[in-house]
Amino acid sequence: MTVPATPFSDPAVLADPYPVLAALRESGPVHRLDGRLGVPVWVVTRYADVLAALSEPRLSNDPQQAVDLEEALRGDFLSRSMIGADPPEHTRLRRLVSKAFTARRVEGLRPRVQAITDTLLDRVSPRGHAELVGEFALPLPITVIGELLGVPEADRDRFRTWTDDMLDRPFDARTDLAVVVAARERMHGYLSELVDAKRRDPADDLLTDLVAASDEGERLDEQELLAMTFLLLVAGYVTTVSLIGNGTLALLRAPDQLDRLRADPSLVPRAVEELLRFDGPVNPGLSRFALEDLELGGARIRRGDVVLLAIAAANRDPDRFPDPDRLDVGSADPGHLAFGHGIHYCLGAPLARLEGQVAFAALLERLPDLALATAEDQLRWTGGGVLRGLRELPVTFTPTP
Ligand code: HEM
Repeated sequence: MTVPATPFSDPAVLADPYPVLAALRESGPVHRLDGRLGVPVWVVTRYADVLAALSEPRLSNDPQQAVDLEEALRGDFLSRSMIGADPPEHTRLRRLVSKAFTARRVEGLRPRVQAITDTLLDRVSPRGHAELVGEFALPLPITVIGELLGVPEADRDRFRTWTDDMLDRPFDARTDLAVVVAARERMHGYLSELVDAKRRDPADDLLTDLVAASDEGERLDEQELLAMTFLLLVAGYVTTVSLIGNGTLALLRAPDQLDRLRADPSLVPRAVEELLRFDGPVNPGLSRFALEDLELGGARIRRGDVVLLAIAAANRDPDRFPDPDRLDVGSADPGHLAFGHGIHYCLGAPLARLEGQVAFAALLERLPDLALATAEDQLRWTGGGVLRGLRELPVTFTPTP
């Protein structure tokens, strides 16, 4: 049987995936499509089904469980991290770092997040124009997570390139896979050096704490330590860049909502949740791997099959969100799935929320008359796999000294 290919890396779909996601959602709860590198993928699109599947223990986070998946993809060293692990490994790995990301600990970072935000906006605000992804949405979270982990500032550009190579690939061609594998090896080498440096020269940072936990023995082996570092580093910024980038664009496209937020900044926390629902970073969604044969939305999934839980479709499901394609920054509905659900619920959600709230409040206050400085059809997007975000966001505003 031939199955249709996943459309998510098509440039037109990447620019606006919502019509395709809506068509899939409306035409049936689960679709079997031909995924990246030709592996069939079951796509789940409706809110209630995605929510249920996120806490389904027969759906694993471990890519090693995928029968047909290319070894190069299954062997990803993320599979030694909590996001690629099932209980009991998942429980042990998550517990090792969960204290660093509690709402209380994260609140303590607020002054530093504010200071980094202010410094970045000080640079652009007198100028009257900026490229907001490169000059704001990216450096803010990369600096925050870099400082938290203890990654030298001078190294950040290097690992950013490898991350782009690893994540910013629709895997349409085998050459892409070679790029991914090469970047992964370089990243692995770099993280090993970084860990050794922390061993030689301990500091007051999260990576030093993790190295200590692994040196104590049983709790974290060397490969798990590297995978954990990679996960925290990457999860700590790639997603947040898109929250700020996509979110700003969504506000620019809905000037009434932008004005409303400017007039009442107390709405910013709600606006951040609504922007996560409306055009969140995880798009189309999260992969899972069936541990046994099971039924999902009427479809018969076989052990080892890949299942894509389309968070972005669920977050626009009219059965859950009335008028889902309209942005409402005053919405008091916190039910979006942008941070997932269940045991893998985003560990960094309090930090992402803090960064988003500080960033949007500062943008509105410091960049008056914010406007898009390019034609809509010139906007370029990254993604096609798990995450989707703007490559650049050129804007103009009234300069302030
Ligand atoms: C997990 C989204 C920011 C760290 C997740 C998951 C989602 C998500 C959907 C669940 C993955 C799954 O179920 O397979 C987001 C979004 C963010 C964001 C939309 C920004 C707007 C952050 C930040 C950190 C972080 C700032 C900081 C380190 C993690 C970690 C996990 C995770 C460690 C794995 C948790 C586990 O497997 O138990 N994130 N994330 N995330 N996120 Fe985030």
